[in-house]
Amino acid sequence: MKDIVMEKEQKKLFEKFNDLSLGRRDITKHSSKDLPKYNYPVNNLVSAFHPSKMEVVVTKIVEENENTKSFWLKREDSEYLPPFKAGSYITLEVHTNGRIYKRPYTISSDTNSLKEYRITIQEEKNGIVSHYMCHECKENDKLTIYGPFGHFHYSLIRDSSDIICLAGGSGITGVRSMIVDLLRTKKVSSIELIYGTKTVNDILWKPEFDELAKKNKNFKVTYLLSEEKREDYPYGFINEDLLRNLNPEGKTFFVSGPVAMYQALNDVFVKMDIPNKFIRHEEFRESLETEDVETYELTIHQKGNVTVIPCKSNQTLVQSMEEGRFSAPVHCTVGICGYCRSKLISGTVKTDTSALRKKDVDLKYIHPCVTYPLSDIEIELP
Ligand code: FES
Repeated sequence: MKDIVMEKEQKKLFEKFNDLSLGRRDITKHSSKDLPKYNYPVNNLVSAFHPSKMEVVVTKIVEENENTKSFWLKREDSEYLPPFKAGSYITLEVHTNGRIYKRPYTISSDTNSLKEYRITIQEEKNGIVSHYMCHECKENDKLTIYGPFGHFHYSLIRDSSDIICLAGGSGITGVRSMIVDLLRTKKVSSIELIYGTKTVNDILWKPEFDELAKKNKNFKVTYLLSEEKREDYPYGFINEDLLRNLNPEGKTFFVSGPVAMYQALNDVFVKMDIPNKFIRHEEFRESLETEDVETYELTIHQKGNVTVIPCKSNQTLVQSMEEGRFSAPVHCTVGICGYCRSKLISGTVKTDTSALRKKDVDLKYIHPCVTYPLSDIEIELP
């Protein structure tokens, strides 16, 4: 009897919902295609707090070591910069060689200091933007930034209150910001940092980390050297034995470093049965290295315009757009944010679809920032 009443109730609810969605569909069908003229105050507030693009001035440059510099960026209009979660990145736009390049750099400064952001850049081999920043950029220069963006941050409802940070090389930048933030806000019970570099001179902010460890009983730091043997430092790479000594069960890992480090650690995590839900990692990607370079044609459709530029098999479509002086719509450049999501009209590609929805994959959408051409390509950009 009870079941029959329930069924009737459910049916009534279902019919009500159906009427509602029919009504909505009807309204949508007859609504104007023009954008609403009214600008909601909340939208003004959001764009005041978080403009999508900002002009900034380089107020200070600090040489951190032989090949790494920190840059302090302040808004040109002297307003506060948007708030960010520790571990987030900004996209930096640089104009050099007559081209426009956009690259993501993690913010290494504190979340409670919004007059300036600090980004820390290590010069990369063949890195156009890192070379420009480390050798040509001067104090008082003007730059354009977008963001902050990103998913590499601590979440109270998702992550354990005991965390292990594994940082390699310049991957320490966002981790530094995260550790300072978590210790200040007392959001976690314990933080263990394993920081791997080639030599002692490559360690960034060592005095600061040592001081934090002295003042906070719940923070420990271990420096690991891979190319210099020193009595007081462990030698080698982060491995299974080292992780087992940290009693990792139930703890959340934050991993940030070069791609080779992720690959090596992934194998260790699988071997140790550490579920993915306990692993967060910063996204970095390196160029496809290939000896045989083919050159193809890239046809770009965007808002009714058609542009044709050459594209190389060892460069992502975004890199080819940069070389072809075409302003590419990018933020993260590692296939995660979806900002460059484009429709592949024709051609074959080698791409990473891990961040795309299944429907997008079926409908041949790609992220050009992680897509390499294997033939002539035709795409439609957003
Ligand atoms: S720029 Fe973020 S997915 Fe391509």
